[in-house]
Amino acid sequence: MVQNHRLIIHNGKKLKKLRVSVEEGATAVSVVVPGGGYLMTAKQKILSIIFISFLSCCYIFSISFFSLLESFRKESEDFGPYEPFIAPQCSRISNGTICCDRTGFRSEICIMKGDVRTHSASSSVCLFTSLKNKSKIHEKIKPYTRKWETSVMETVQELNLVYGDENYSVSDDEHNNNICDVFYNVPAVFLSTGGYTGNVYHEFNDGIIPLFITSQHFKKKVVFVIVEYHTWWVMKYGDIVSQLSDYPTVDFNGDKRTHCFKEAIVGLKIHDELTVDSSLMLGNKTIFDFRNVLDRAYLPRIRGLIQDEELETANKTSQSVREDGLKKPKLVILSRNGTREILNENLLVELAEEIGFFVEVLRPDKTTELAKIYKCLNSSDVMIGVHGAAMTHFLFLKPKTVFIQIIPLGTEWAAETYYGEPAKKMRLKYIGYKIKPIESSLYDEYGKDDPIIRDPKSFTRKGWDYTKKIYLERQNVKLDLKRFRKSLSRAYDFSVKRLGPVYSSQ
Ligand SMILES: *[C@@H]1O[C@H](CO)[C@@H](O)[C@H](O)[C@H]1NC(C)=O
Ligand SMILES: *[C@@H]1O[C@H](CO)[C@@H](O)[C@H](O)[C@H]1NC(C)=O
Ligand SMILES: *[C@@H]1O[C@H](CO)[C@@H](O)[C@H](O)[C@H]1NC(C)=O
Ligand SMILES: *[C@@H]1O[C@H](CO)[C@@H](O)[C@H](O)[C@H]1NC(C)=O
Ligand SMILES: *[C@@H]1O[C@H](CO)[C@@H](O)[C@H](O)[C@H]1NC(C)=O
Ligand SMILES: *[C@@H]1O[C@H](CO)[C@@H](O)[C@H](O)[C@H]1NC(C)=O
Ligand SMILES: *[C@@H]1O[C@H](CO)[C@@H](O)[C@H](O)[C@H]1NC(C)=O
Repeated sequence: MVQNHRLIIHNGKKLKKLRVSVEEGATAVSVVVPGGGYLMTAKQKILSIIFISFLSCCYIFSISFFSLLESFRKESEDFGPYEPFIAPQCSRISNGTICCDRTGFRSEICIMKGDVRTHSASSSVCLFTSLKNKSKIHEKIKPYTRKWETSVMETVQELNLVYGDENYSVSDDEHNNNICDVFYNVPAVFLSTGGYTGNVYHEFNDGIIPLFITSQHFKKKVVFVIVEYHTWWVMKYGDIVSQLSDYPTVDFNGDKRTHCFKEAIVGLKIHDELTVDSSLMLGNKTIFDFRNVLDRAYLPRIRGLIQDEELETANKTSQSVREDGLKKPKLVILSRNGTREILNENLLVELAEEIGFFVEVLRPDKTTELAKIYKCLNSSDVMIGVHGAAMTHFLFLKPKTVFIQIIPLGTEWAAETYYGEPAKKMRLKYIGYKIKPIESSLYDEYGKDDPIIRDPKSFTRKGWDYTKKIYLERQNVKLDLKRFRKSLSRAYDFSVKRLGPVYSSQ
């Protein structure tokens, strides 16, 4: 009996089984009471009844205890109102009102509390209220995160946030008094998938990470309403979007129906380049929570990919194992073509293999499935690439792995700001490899004395267009492998140390 007692206290699963037998009635007695036999004395019967009551009490007690724990945990996951984090100026917004926080440098955000209905024909989102207040102000907002760049903001649709009541409809059509065609008992987040999309840096920096920041606290109970809706965007990022929302996305302009919500956030909150600042997040969420979203998003697809591979290569011996049976750290080269190519990439691969890496060269383009890139990088120890949008994929690396960014002439500021700094915040071991003039293809073209080579800053200071035309679009890299070897060896030693004995160094 003492043993049974312990079982109940320590093992929740066993408990359930015991209860079943208790509930099934008298036969249980002979199951539960050890050594009781079929013939029981009156005393034994009383004892066993007491014991069963004791079991039931334990069960009921533990059930209520666990559900208490459960509800306590749920409670503590609920960190209160989100407004102070998403739109601090609107912290005290009351039901039936629209409030905009326009203090952000990168984006503006409006919140609408109450009965929110879309009206795409007039680019409007209406808040219906029976409260009469003539001083209620209509607002306008572009839901994109590059507020300071007027040229790109001009391409983004402006939304009118207006009040409506039973006597006023934004629609001229008398038959359509903003009657809800689709009703959701959850909030909406309005965003644009236009702007600079088509570039993976912008897609993550301006869109996906801000979407995580703005919506994760809704725990998927939220609808994303999109202006400049692109089907390819929804396809490409569907895995991630479905980790943030349980609902299909709404194409604001393509879907003319009136969609109704119980509140709305219009615009996205953004912190800094490719990062999540936990001090600005409800519940102190971090970039690692964002990465966990990616991991969950790609897991099902990656499982499928792995199965396919296993079928294909069942009999091939893996190159990732050394002759002496030890595993090799994996190094991935994110390869570009056209501009900012590594001209001696083949020699770089040879060198890395000689140092002891298992090397994989990845050439992602706009159509490469993100799950495949994630699979490759999530299982790698070192990523190397020349500065450019593809460096955004450092987000797919596991924390504490190595990211070597090759920095061509004139790209130092952009390389550090957009990728180096954010990578360090994600606790990657970041190595910025600034090339020497002689490693640049521009050196052959202009000679060592040309200001383009001698003093890139004098050009990059003049503006992004100069940087782009000279240093980004027309420069390739021929690595000085003697010099680069030092960075590679550092990366190798670091990886082997992190990975432990099965990977140990020669
Ligand atoms: C907010 O106001 C709307 C109508 O304007 C009403 O339907 C809704 O129940 C209100 N919500 C709360 C939480 O008071
Ligand atoms: C709507 O119109 C009716 C009749 O003119 C008026 O009594 C009512 O107060 C109006 N409602 C609002 C919210 O303005
Ligand atoms: C009317 O709205 C203005 C601005 O939103 C607000 O300051 C004022 O208190 C409101 N008045 C009433 C009576 O609700
Ligand atoms: C978040 O961090 C702040 C400051 O580090 C701390 O005071 C607060 O308790 C944390 N909140 C949660 C929910 O962990
Ligand atoms: C990424 O790597 C980690 C650690 O090796 C693993 O647990 C996780 O399942 C991987 N994620 C995916 C989506 O494959
Ligand atoms: C793998 O090897 C086994 C035996 O060596 C062979 O029977 C099988 O057909 C091979 N499978 C593939 C996919 O090549
Ligand atoms: C880039 O690679 C593709 C496919 O490998 C090739 O068709 C294309 O010509 C290359 N572009 C440049 C600019 O080298």
